[in-house]
Amino acid sequence: MTIENKVVVITGASSGIGEATAKLLASKGAKVVLGARRKDKLKALADEIQNAGGHAVYRVTDVVNPDDSKELVQLAKDTFGSIDVIFLNAGLMPNAPLSALKTDEWNSMIDVNIKGVLNGIAAVLPTFTSQKSGHVITTSSVAGLKAYPGGAVYGATKWAVRDLMEVLRMESAQEGTNIRTATIYPAAIHTELLETITDKNTAEGMTAMYEQYGITPDRIAKVVAFAIDQPEDTNVNEFTVGPTNQPW
Ligand SMILES: NC(=O)c1ccc[n+]([C@@H]2O[C@H](COP(=O)([O-])OP(=O)(O)OC[C@H]3O[C@@H](n4cnc5c(N)ncnc54)[C@H](OP(=O)(O)O)[C@@H]3O)[C@@H](O)[C@H]2O)c1
Repeated sequence: MTIENKVVVITGASSGIGEATAKLLASKGAKVVLGARRKDKLKALADEIQNAGGHAVYRVTDVVNPDDSKELVQLAKDTFGSIDVIFLNAGLMPNAPLSALKTDEWNSMIDVNIKGVLNGIAAVLPTFTSQKSGHVITTSSVAGLKAYPGGAVYGATKWAVRDLMEVLRMESAQEGTNIRTATIYPAAIHTELLETITDKNTAEGMTAMYEQYGITPDRIAKVVAFAIDQPEDTNVNEFTVGPTNQPW
């Protein structure tokens, strides 16, 4: 089964990588189920997909709340009768030096970037296990592979995603559940991500870097589509994707 007719839940679908992925997958015949907190954005995206002849529904979802994640998965099953893929993509990056002690932002990143992914896995795993198929895709980051000043907590959350996805892959293979996994490590992609940075120096530095190197989020959407489009017995597990001219 290729992308056509697959039911794909996407978190962080209201902008950036999630939005671009929803559009691309819907254009290839997937039935997309959109989750994020901003209702107006989700509605506009669902309308755009439907007006283009695609299938999309949405639910206002805060991935920090386990019940929201469960209800998003239930919406997929109630509307389309099944769920094949979950793209756990919601994330925040309020980078700052540790010495700035932005502890509320540290906690937000842990809540959204780690617990949000775990909540999504918990919401979908019983179904994927019982149907003996499914695909969990996450957006980690190059910050989950390489450390850099200003990105201590963000990087820690993305390293955590890398670890838990690899263990999910191993356990699924051991348990014979046929659940596929893919972890994506993007570098500089033009989205709304930098808008969560409140530390002035960090914001200026990262904005300059993104202006120099950034590429558009449809590049990541194509990678998600590639992962889904593989034969069911083939797991393409990790992708590092960024601008050709970005040196780190
Ligand atoms: N852009 C890059 O250069 C880059 C590089 C590496 C990794 N990433 C990762 O890519 C993912 C997508 O980010 P993006 O670059 O596309 O940035 P973005 O445009 O800011 O998108 C982030 C998405 O996450 C959603 N979100 C945030 N908190 C949420 C919550 N509590 N519950 C539900 N949804 C929530 C946002 O929607 P609402 O505000 O409507 O909830 C939005 O749809 C993130 O995990 C990010 O860390 C991005």
